[in-house]
Amino acid sequence: MNGHFIFKHFDLNDEGFINKQDFIVIMVTVTPWEVKGNIDYDKLIKDFGVEKLDENLIKRIEKHAGEVHHMIRRNIFFAHRDMKFILDEYEKGNKFFLYTGRAPSGDTHLGHLVPWLFTKWLQDKFDVELLFQFPDEEKVLFKKDLTFEEVEKHLYENMLDVIALDFDPKKTKFLIDTKHADLMYKEACKVAKHITFSTAKGAFGFENDTNLGAIFYTAMQAVPAFLPSVLAKKEIPCLIPHAIDQDPHFRVSRDVIPKLGHYKPASIQCRFLPGLGGMSEDGKMSSSAASTTTVFTTDDAKTVKKKINKYAFSGGQVTVEDHRKLGGNPDIDVSYQWLTFFEEDDAKLKQIYDDYKSGKLLSGELKAILIEKLNGFLSEHQKKREEAKKKIDQYILKV
Ligand code: TRP
Repeated sequence: MNGHFIFKHFDLNDEGFINKQDFIVIMVTVTPWEVKGNIDYDKLIKDFGVEKLDENLIKRIEKHAGEVHHMIRRNIFFAHRDMKFILDEYEKGNKFFLYTGRAPSGDTHLGHLVPWLFTKWLQDKFDVELLFQFPDEEKVLFKKDLTFEEVEKHLYENMLDVIALDFDPKKTKFLIDTKHADLMYKEACKVAKHITFSTAKGAFGFENDTNLGAIFYTAMQAVPAFLPSVLAKKEIPCLIPHAIDQDPHFRVSRDVIPKLGHYKPASIQCRFLPGLGGMSEDGKMSSSAASTTTVFTTDDAKTVKKKINKYAFSGGQVTVEDHRKLGGNPDIDVSYQWLTFFEEDDAKLKQIYDDYKSGKLLSGELKAILIEKLNGFLSEHQKKREEAKKKIDQYILKV
């Protein structure tokens, strides 16, 4: 058994959620080779109220896509709500649209790219439209010292990262909350009217000193899930790829949206790219924890090399001698974990796993593999990011 499940059993907190620490520990210790049929994993899904992405669904996705994305194969995208509905409709010729987003609040790091890369794959394989929301008010409302002026800069930079992933400009539209407020506000009010403070409190843990804007915000995040239907005057199914932390927004709005006459949006969820420091803190790669736990999309090759070598938590032995004798532990090794996200080739990854475990591959060598992989990707990405500066206007939604 390679997947070390530290908590065989975990408790739910007052709101009925699994405690964050327990959740993160379980999520990041799942390895590509050990996830199947694990009871704790299944329980996690049940407690969250999402469904497992099972064999049957994966086969159906494969039938249309012609392949299974490595993030599905490795359980990085591991859960969903109503995927069956999306595929049923798709097979009847009723295409869905994709919806995802990013609240501009800082520089883009590799963790942000995980759901976006997958979304891009879905767009290509299913040939569907994407509505990408930039809720530029969200973090102004939720972060104490963040201003709209600062967010404006992050918005610009974040848009470049999305464009750099080569989303089809004809099929991809950016929705910016304060710029598209005229399109969104009335619809957000319709949503908000059906959500009580008590529901919002239960889902997000609001208190009496939470500001009004933060309480309202979830209504704004609900709108893109049905806005294309409003604009087209025709109901279009919606699929939302997102990291699991966004689920409370959609859990709440899924109950409301059908009351407004629209399809209940479906979703597909991924776990987090772990921070370089490993499973400490909250396990989610955070840009506010600054440069020691993250790799930004604008980091140059030297910086990436330095960060990985210096900060990536190693599952290797302390001495080369011990490592050769005892082998390393890829399951806790962050460089290896990152490769499960970014190295698409299963055979290559398996070789790395085996060689590291047997002691044939040293920690420094494993890190070098990751550094090469990331820098190859980033040098391309940074080129496309430059080109993206001329393209922004093509992506902004115009009605
Ligand atoms: N709330 C998300 C964030 O903090 C941004 C977001 C808006 C989003 N709409 C979304 C994320 C839909 C995923 C799917 O970045």
